[in-house]
Amino acid sequence: MLGRKSVNALNHLEIGQCDVVALAEQFGTPLYVFDEEEIVGAMREYREAFAQHYPSFHVAYAGKAFLCGAMCRLVAQEGLWLDVVSGGEYFVARGSGFPWNRLIFHGNNKTDEERALALREGVGRWVVDGFEELECLLEESKQYVHGKLPVLLRVTPGVDPHTHAYITTGRVESKFGFPLVEGIAEKAFLLAASSPYLDVRGVHCHIGSQIRTLDPFLKAVDILLEFMDALRRNHGLLLEELDLGGGLGVPYLDGEKGDFPSIRSYVEALTGKVREKCLSLSYPLPVLFVEPGRSIVNTAGSTVYRVGFVKEIPGVKKYVAVNGGMTDNPRPVLYGARYQALLGNRVEGGEKETVAIVGKCCESGDVLIPEIELPRVKRGDILVVEGTGAYNYSMASNYNLIPRPGVVFVRNGTARLVVRPESLSDLLRKDVIPEEGAG
Ligand code: LLP
Repeated sequence: MLGRKSVNALNHLEIGQCDVVALAEQFGTPLYVFDEEEIVGAMREYREAFAQHYPSFHVAYAGKAFLCGAMCRLVAQEGLWLDVVSGGEYFVARGSGFPWNRLIFHGNNKTDEERALALREGVGRWVVDGFEELECLLEESKQYVHGKLPVLLRVTPGVDPHTHAYITTGRVESKFGFPLVEGIAEKAFLLAASSPYLDVRGVHCHIGSQIRTLDPFLKAVDILLEFMDALRRNHGLLLEELDLGGGLGVPYLDGEKGDFPSIRSYVEALTGKVREKCLSLSYPLPVLFVEPGRSIVNTAGSTVYRVGFVKEIPGVKKYVAVNGGMTDNPRPVLYGARYQALLGNRVEGGEKETVAIVGKCCESGDVLIPEIELPRVKRGDILVVEGTGAYNYSMASNYNLIPRPGVVFVRNGTARLVVRPESLSDLLRKDVIPEEGAG
């Protein structure tokens, strides 16, 4: 079992002391369930570890992992910053009252409308991703409403984080950021620093996601601080901030639990490395930012499904179909991600069998778990897939016109709906249907 779940006297699974069978009845299925205390616990672990080891830091939650109004509120309450990557995320953050000056605005292709929105309302930091964007900003920042526009420039340090190719972002050929090679990033910093309207605060990098070892992060620190030091020595440009992005991996399976550094050891290693490197370069300690997404929400989240038809191909395979699938969790299809699950209404005991958990989409690839041992499953059972807090709700789709599930936060035996499940009529709401006979 991942996280802090438990089993009650009815042999039902409990998350945040709420019985998942009761949650399924009250809110319907599929349903994303988040243990609020676990989210808050991870946020505090980051902040406390930093506070213990480093003088000046900001932890920015990466909203792309999972964002809704209630999540923005939690992030704000816990004193974190928030990383947003689109006008949509920006709008949801501001719409739920998130302070503009704690927003980090990302994106490799911020549209005209997105830039205008952020410049009109304000940002804590603007992460510049390329030359064309920088040129736009040299002009547009004249209109910035809160004084000089505080920017970080994103660079690609050329570190391989040894994770899935689709979520590797710090290599030189990446579509993100300014490569450090051939003086490209250097040129960008000098150009930005020449503007009276930009406040060039520092360097940003994000090398990838679901990273298992600390080594690539530490390599990035080395490279980035050497780069910052070169800017200081060669151009007198002293950058005061270093944003190391997100990327800390988490276990998805019980068997992987020992394979990932804890939040605490990640923070200890990063801050230790930054201190050591700064000392060796005689560089003043920069303000450190990190932008964790997955490591804050993944384990806290589970998806609760209702089992539908069970199909046995004798001697070959038994399929257990649930009332969701790649629409609410595209990660197995996209990245070959592996998950584990439990029967929410009969967690322990009984005869076991090996089955495949599949979704209801018109695709043979719509397999959530290719092989898992579970107590004998039948129609109507509640299946809970664990570790779905990150990049599930945020990547869900309406493929096959399947409505997206709602989201519930649970804590101390109380559940609150934070995102309504989509209804069938939601699916028609945006349609413009021609008058009959009009074509
Ligand atoms: N900062 C930046 C600039 C990012 O691009 C990302 C993730 C993060 C922070 C947060 O990284 P995390 O701590 O969550 O690893 N959809 C993929 C993951 C894509 C990650 C994109 N960027 C997945 O489902 O695995």
